[in-house]
Amino acid sequence: MTKFSFSLHNTDGAARTGVIDTPRGQIRTPAFMPVGTAATVKAMMPESVAATGADILLGNTYHLMLRPTAERIDRLGGLHRFMNWSKPILTDSGGFQVMSLADLRKLTEHGVTFKSHIDGSKHEITPERSMEIQRLLGSDIVMCFDECPALPASDAAVAESMRLSMRWAQRSRDAFGDRPGHALFGIMQGGVTPELREESAEALTRIGFDGYAIGGLAVGEGQAAMFGVLDYAPGFLPVDKPRYLMGVGKPDDIVGAVKRGVDMMDCVLPSRSGRTGQAWTRRGQINIKNARHADDPRPLDEDCTCPACRNYSRAYLHHVFRSNEMISGMLLTWHNLHYFQQIMGEMRAAIAAGTFDAWEEQFHAMRALGDI
Ligand code: GUN
Ligand code: ZN
Repeated sequence: MTKFSFSLHNTDGAARTGVIDTPRGQIRTPAFMPVGTAATVKAMMPESVAATGADILLGNTYHLMLRPTAERIDRLGGLHRFMNWSKPILTDSGGFQVMSLADLRKLTEHGVTFKSHIDGSKHEITPERSMEIQRLLGSDIVMCFDECPALPASDAAVAESMRLSMRWAQRSRDAFGDRPGHALFGIMQGGVTPELREESAEALTRIGFDGYAIGGLAVGEGQAAMFGVLDYAPGFLPVDKPRYLMGVGKPDDIVGAVKRGVDMMDCVLPSRSGRTGQAWTRRGQINIKNARHADDPRPLDEDCTCPACRNYSRAYLHHVFRSNEMISGMLLTWHNLHYFQQIMGEMRAAIAAGTFDAWEEQFHAMRALGDI
């Protein structure tokens, strides 16, 4: 059986390109992972998600444990079979979603108890239970159970939370055990404080993981502060393992993260904003509900090869959005996911060619032109 492995192919400054090999296929890095929270990338068939260029999807422990439950998915053959996605799946571990979605949360050394946002039922997630759920789902890349403090917070509070996450990382490692072909990633915390980020990275590398995530960012600190952390934090992590920036981001966030040495990212943005009428293009953001599109026969982006741009006018996309037709979310999500994957492919090629800086300059120049 193919084991899980990462090979770094090229670097250009801090930016890297490589391939993660898994028994379910290769993940080209830098990789963008569409979010399939509830065993679906909303408004997309799995084969369409693959057609946009995605090598891997993200799923969520929190949502799936509540509905339809990890045990039911296991009985039905695992998450890949359940949702008809045969390529790799990474699952987040639950704590971050509990903190943002659940009611009556109670955090202790042992874990977190909470009430479901769906039906009010009581649940508990511990590092051990999170590992069990992600095993039942059949996740290829399992995330450690961690806590992500809301920023701004005092240094003392961020330090205490990070040290709890490091103890949970050890418990996650112990509970995960040895599972050939499956990977366990640690999650660095420590807010925007270099000393805490370094302490966290040292704790994680001492335990030893197949990859390392940078957590606790994109939680309201702003792009400048996030890039500030990314200027040093990836350098605290082993060069020969994948680095995953969690929950990021907008196209310019993604480009800035890759420039600073990040290999993987995920975000709901392309899919969620597609359902609210926002399209992302090389020339920035387009709000399709704007009246200026009502008579426009042009596609969203003349150079885009996605089905929304090849076959439909802005006028049509405007009409179906205004009419609340389901095809609106389908077409805009497809376009957005295609555009995000296009950026990733272009960055991988530019890093391999040693032309990342020139590519980045052109990326920003196109956006500065604006939508015309
Ligand atoms: N998603 C975005 N940020 C985080 C984080 O810090 N931890 C986890 N588990 N998931 C995230
Ligand atoms: Zn398109």
